[in-house]
Amino acid sequence: MEKILVLGGSGFVGTHVCEKLVRKQVHVTVPTRRLAHARNLLIYPFLTPLELDVHDEAALTRAVAGHDAVVNLIAILHGDQAAFDKVHVALPQKLARACIAGGVKRLVHISALGADALQAQSAPSMYLRSKSQGEAVLMQAAIGAGAGLTARAGFDLTILRPSVMFGAEDKFLNLFARLQKHLPIMPLANADARFQPVWVEDVANAVVKCLERGGIASPDNAPHVLELCGPDVFTLKELVQLSAQLSGVRQGRGRPVMALPRWLGRLQARLMELAPGGPLMSRDNLDSMQRDNVASGKLPGLQSLGITPSALLPIAQDYLTQNQPTQGLLAIRQRSH
Ligand SMILES: NC(=O)c1ccc[n+]([C@@H]2O[C@H](COP(=O)([O-])OP(=O)(O)OC[C@H]3O[C@@H](n4cnc5c(N)ncnc54)[C@H](OP(=O)(O)O)[C@@H]3O)[C@@H](O)[C@H]2O)c1
Repeated sequence: MEKILVLGGSGFVGTHVCEKLVRKQVHVTVPTRRLAHARNLLIYPFLTPLELDVHDEAALTRAVAGHDAVVNLIAILHGDQAAFDKVHVALPQKLARACIAGGVKRLVHISALGADALQAQSAPSMYLRSKSQGEAVLMQAAIGAGAGLTARAGFDLTILRPSVMFGAEDKFLNLFARLQKHLPIMPLANADARFQPVWVEDVANAVVKCLERGGIASPDNAPHVLELCGPDVFTLKELVQLSAQLSGVRQGRGRPVMALPRWLGRLQARLMELAPGGPLMSRDNLDSMQRDNVASGKLPGLQSLGITPSALLPIAQDYLTQNQPTQGLLAIRQRSH
């Protein structure tokens, strides 16, 4: 493992992945839509940011060539059908072709818990359907390449399906804490939806382990699929209350949570979609929550890679109390924004 291309390396998970790779003295290339988005990564001697339109297949193919492995972390949370198709389905398809053309041996693709390549159409939201389809096109490419071309042309595919991630820069517990500092009550749609949050560091470690040794051995050479979850399950309401407790809103008592009926939750999400900038919540996000965000128990998890999933409470307490990372890449990143 000498040269790795990390698509989405400038993002929340990508920053952690890049940090771990450069510490191992791996040469990392990070394509980005704007070099400014990757300025937090510039301090690393082994890392090369590359301004690139990843949706331009010819440019992507040129960028992929010469790397030992590729990590794909590019995704969107909000958008219309066309946007989800472009980022979650068409891009993986182009990436698979680029890997085969460039002789890249290993691809680690980050999907999402609740996606399922075999049942894409039954997924409840555009996000999960497109994530599922993205997995499916990669699996077809990986298996097809192995069968139809020489063994040299195939690539080892690992699909990681993380639950919602917590960490100093998350847009999840931090957001709940921030909202409760300003709102008198917390109107909450899908308050009973269940989640099994996973620490971003555990996910980044899993990516690195998969790059080093592939996913886990599978006798039929099928792509490796892992579900990455933390040790504990929480309802959305419990997570909102925890964020207030840990960040000290109203001396830890937080705001009263008002569980919204379905119709009112959708109306709230519709109004948020109309707000300028990216919405805090969309109707498609609510659709995703129709499926519990917890491990199915049918697929290997972090333990199969030798990683013990970290509990949320002590880690979230650390960053929600301070709300400021004080050292490392994340601190530099936060200061630069
Ligand atoms: N965060 C979570 O809780 C969570 C939970 C489950 C699954 N996941 C999955 O984990 C992966 C990483 O998530 P993340 O939270 O790190 O994402 P993120 O912070 O939003 O980063 C994604 C990166 O993708 C690039 N990007 C975004 N939209 C793009 C577009 N339209 N075209 C090209 N590039 C685009 C951006 O890079 P530039 O701006 O540099 O171009 C961005 O840094 C994703 O696959 C996500 O679905 C995340």
